[in-house]
Amino acid sequence: MDTIEVADPADDRLADYVRLRDVNLRRSLEAEHGLFMAEGEKVIRRALRAGFAPRSLLLTRRRLAALADVAAAVDAPVYVVAEEVAEALVGFDLHRGALASFHRRPLPAPAEVLAGARRVVVLEDVVDHTNVGAIFRSAAGLGVDAVLLSPRCADPLYRRSVKVSMGAVFAQPYARLADWHGGLGELRDRGFRLLALTPGPGSVPLARAVAELGPDARVALLLGTEGDGLSARWLDQADTAVRVPMAGRDVDSLNVTAAAAIACYELVRADPG
Ligand SMILES: C[S@@+](CC[C@H](N)C(=O)[O-])C[C@H]1O[C@@H](n2cnc3c(N)ncnc32)[C@H](O)[C@@H]1O
Repeated sequence: MDTIEVADPADDRLADYVRLRDVNLRRSLEAEHGLFMAEGEKVIRRALRAGFAPRSLLLTRRRLAALADVAAAVDAPVYVVAEEVAEALVGFDLHRGALASFHRRPLPAPAEVLAGARRVVVLEDVVDHTNVGAIFRSAAGLGVDAVLLSPRCADPLYRRSVKVSMGAVFAQPYARLADWHGGLGELRDRGFRLLALTPGPGSVPLARAVAELGPDARVALLLGTEGDGLSARWLDQADTAVRVPMAGRDVDSLNVTAAAAIACYELVRADPG
């Protein structure tokens, strides 16, 4: 196994890993170089299994043995650093001791991920990376066929999303709508029934709506942004407004990740196939 010891956190070869908590810096750096970060042994292995090509690996000396097989197999430099160097470089204590920088791939068009899909989650302006990651984990874990993102949704390949999803973002097919205003038309044209998840008045219980559609329907679950929920435009375009019934107790909505997990479960449970 060929590894490269690096002692200086300012070494140019480590530039992919600089200041991982600086969101603005990371956004522009990752977009400019077409890269994303995977953190921790399990997530790195999942990215490789999903066929992403590594640009490099960064391991602390302590983690080298655990990833020795990966380090020996990848066609990319493997940098090994002391813990203090890693901390100075990334900006926090890298207790997982393993990072990898990967090349992004072009995203498929919505039509591509919708072909053959029957159960779809559509997110409108979910802007928190943690929420996006958690929703992908539920969607992948519960067997949703595809996730569609409105143009303003947070990036599923941003480090926090990747980490919270535990790498589910690599396996879950997804695409980004180019057009918020008319984007749902594409689902309609393909025969999807649009269920708008909203805790607001006038909605029907989700389980009832799913049962009424029957197991063969193509269904898209629309979930709204963290603060305001679904826009009036998307609510108007939906076939049915549905809710996860709540007990009250001064809680007027669920966190979007909880609502998504319940809705995915309800949808998948209704489909014996
Ligand atoms: C934090 S909530 C937004 C709350 C916002 N005040 C509203 O009325 O939609 C974010 C998203 O989670 C989903 N959600 C939360 N609680 C829900 C519930 N009880 N039933 C259905 N969807 C829910 C909706 O899609 C909502 O847009």
